[in-house]
Amino acid sequence: MVPAPPMPRVFSGIKPSGEMHLGNYLGAVRQWAAQQDDHDALYCVVDLHAMTEPFDAAGLGAATRQTGTALLAAGLDPARCILFVQSHVAAHTELTWILNCVATFGELRRMTQFKEKGKGQESVSVGLFDYPVLMAADILLYDTDEVPVGDDQRQHLELTRDVAARFNHRFGDTLVVPKATVPPVAARVMDLQDPTSKMSKSIDSPQGTVLMLDPPDVVMKKIKAAVTDSGTDVRYDPAGKPGVSNLLEIYAAATDGDVAEAAAEFDGQGYGAFKGAVADAVIALLGPVRERYAALAADPGEVDRQLEQGAEKARAIAGPVLERARRAVGLLPPV
Ligand code: TYM
Repeated sequence: MVPAPPMPRVFSGIKPSGEMHLGNYLGAVRQWAAQQDDHDALYCVVDLHAMTEPFDAAGLGAATRQTGTALLAAGLDPARCILFVQSHVAAHTELTWILNCVATFGELRRMTQFKEKGKGQESVSVGLFDYPVLMAADILLYDTDEVPVGDDQRQHLELTRDVAARFNHRFGDTLVVPKATVPPVAARVMDLQDPTSKMSKSIDSPQGTVLMLDPPDVVMKKIKAAVTDSGTDVRYDPAGKPGVSNLLEIYAAATDGDVAEAAAEFDGQGYGAFKGAVADAVIALLGPVRERYAALAADPGEVDRQLEQGAEKARAIAGPVLERARRAVGLLPPV
């Protein structure tokens, strides 16, 4: 076994499909940035995952670079973490194949995301079905301890743990079994126009989705237009008042508070003042990210260079873990 790293290893990823939104930022990416100093951190733009649904080949590379740029803008610092592109490290697909022979058809068929994304589609790619196994390979390839994600990825993390444990049981102790870490608030940011659906890159709801790079006036407009609930009181009640509760979570996350404090702060105030305060908090949070993005996007060559340096470091960690897995399953080593 490789000796345990001195700090817990974290790994997480984001698809370069569509622009990053407030849900990605509050649910995941902000935690990633915060964990760079007390964790051994790897973050990945998962371009191979973006291919599992219909995608534009002419735009995939640019979208991958744009997501890399947005992650740098959100505070990921290549001096303190490893930031790279999934397809630049071939070991991800090789470990996927080995894990494909451990994961079962039955468990993949039960994945909620697969069922939802496949619903009503005339044809569903094998890639979409196999999505969670590629995700398990991403994580297991780095001896990951913790995976900071939003609530919607919990099931995929459970599958990763099951596959790793089964692998270890069958082939001997080889893979580190990771755990998900989900933020206490804003783990599931909802669509502002339909607070019963999650804010999403793939759902077409431009008014309900605050993009990480939206300018302040657009953020203000979207939040002011958010669907609220009947009544006038600002109260945290996700089942009875999903719109107000979503805004309270956003506010609490943006101001580093909790929802109870936020609800108390707006007790007795109308929806108008409340929404204005939520918008101001989000604008203050995203302002520096937008500024950094503009500066970074002016030099795409530098972003590509940073991503390549990240990939080099990632390959150096992934190589020996893949080798361990190959040996464990008994593949004949090449001479
Ligand atoms: P993706 O690209 O859909 O989302 C990236 C991260 O953002 C979180 N997120 C949200 N959090 C709160 N509220 C929302 N509305 C919201 N929408 C998205 C997601 O939970 C995620 O943490 N399968 C992953 C990508 C992936 C991955 C991995 C993650 C591939 N390999 C290995 C962790 C480890 C996904 O589709 O993320």
